[in-house]
Amino acid sequence: MIEAGRTTYSGTIVDRMTLTGSLSASENWQNENTLMLPAQFLSRSSRLSNERGIGMRYRLMSLWPINKENGPGSKVIETGFKKIVEHPDQPFSWVVQSGGRWYFQAIYPDLAVNDSCVNCHNGHPDSPRRDFKRGDVMGGILINLPLGLHRMASPPEKPLLAPEVVTDYIHSVIESDRTIYSRDIVDRLQEKNVMKSSEHWSVENSLPLPAQFLLSVSRLIHKQRKDLDFRLTSLWPIDPRNGPANEFERLGLESVAMHPIRPYIGQTRLGGKHFFQAIYPDLAVAPSCANCHNNHPRSPRRDFALGDVMGGIVVTIRTD
Ligand code: HEC
Ligand code: HEC
Repeated sequence: MIEAGRTTYSGTIVDRMTLTGSLSASENWQNENTLMLPAQFLSRSSRLSNERGIGMRYRLMSLWPINKENGPGSKVIETGFKKIVEHPDQPFSWVVQSGGRWYFQAIYPDLAVNDSCVNCHNGHPDSPRRDFKRGDVMGGILINLPLGLHRMASPPEKPLLAPEVVTDYIHSVIESDRTIYSRDIVDRLQEKNVMKSSEHWSVENSLPLPAQFLLSVSRLIHKQRKDLDFRLTSLWPIDPRNGPANEFERLGLESVAMHPIRPYIGQTRLGGKHFFQAIYPDLAVAPSCANCHNNHPRSPRRDFALGDVMGGIVVTIRTD
């Protein structure tokens, strides 16, 4: 999910806007009417998710960081990074104890997928390394999951996470990417009259709407995995295809509209396989959410206000 958000932001937003010459990305984006760099997008999004205090934490790091805060920070993590530099074809994971808890940690390699990664890092004044080549491991995404309070001498042999905990983690990544995209990209550039976001972004050379950003992430996930899925839905959809797909989704959307604190959960069977589903409320986090929907010609509802539940995010994972 983290990878899909990163790929969508770099590919659909940064690369497309740069290619068409409409917008560029720069490190100093806050003062320069530009897009933030993909690494900054991931860092901000992960900070938002980590602050939610749901247990899972993740961040982008490197042994050769431009930003010193992105360094490994501990001997164990440094060792983990050396392992993925040696074997970049797979993530490296281990279990550690800290403050009386066991944690599962994994590093997924972040590769120099194109020349711009290499050129920018090799030429950056704060970069401690200047010989990156295309295909090199430049860093990685470290994911940290608590396995609970264990006073035992060794970690649990077969740690299991409750499906609700897993969907909370997945939702937190989706929600954080979406918030950074809406607030720091769409709303900021729109307020400054630099670039608008519109439904027909691909022909109008504008930014995709927040809902379309999510759709793009969800399509990537759909292509790559059979055990994980998510979608944006609403009882008052602008696009009728985003209406509740079944009775479960309808009940869930009604429930989170009334009780937005906890997700609505359930289990289903499809083709002999077991799935766990959780519906999280989708809130009008920015004034533009409510404004655009209230004024959209195809919107069936026109009285959304800031903070209202506008719909839901349905996360589905396979449990058998
Ligand atoms: C235009 C310059 C630029 C480009 C292009 C770029 N980066 Fe970076 N990258 C940066 C900067 C600046 C930071 C530090 C951001 C921060 O303050 O956290 C960074 C951070 C990172 C980090 C975290 C460690 C560190 O150096 O602080 C990784 C890993 C990383 N980039 C990998 C990549 C990869 C992979 C690509 C290509 C897909 C890429 N970068 C493209 C400038 C760039
Ligand atoms: C500039 C207009 C605009 C803005 C801003 C906007 N939306 Fe939407 N939203 C749309 C459109 C158009 C669709 C239908 C997109 C599609 O074809 O799937 C949509 C789809 C949705 C859906 C799926 C149900 C539906 O209506 O089709 C939800 C839920 C939603 N938006 C919530 C939000 C939230 C929350 C925000 C703020 C973070 C937001 N929107 C910002 C225009 C907007």
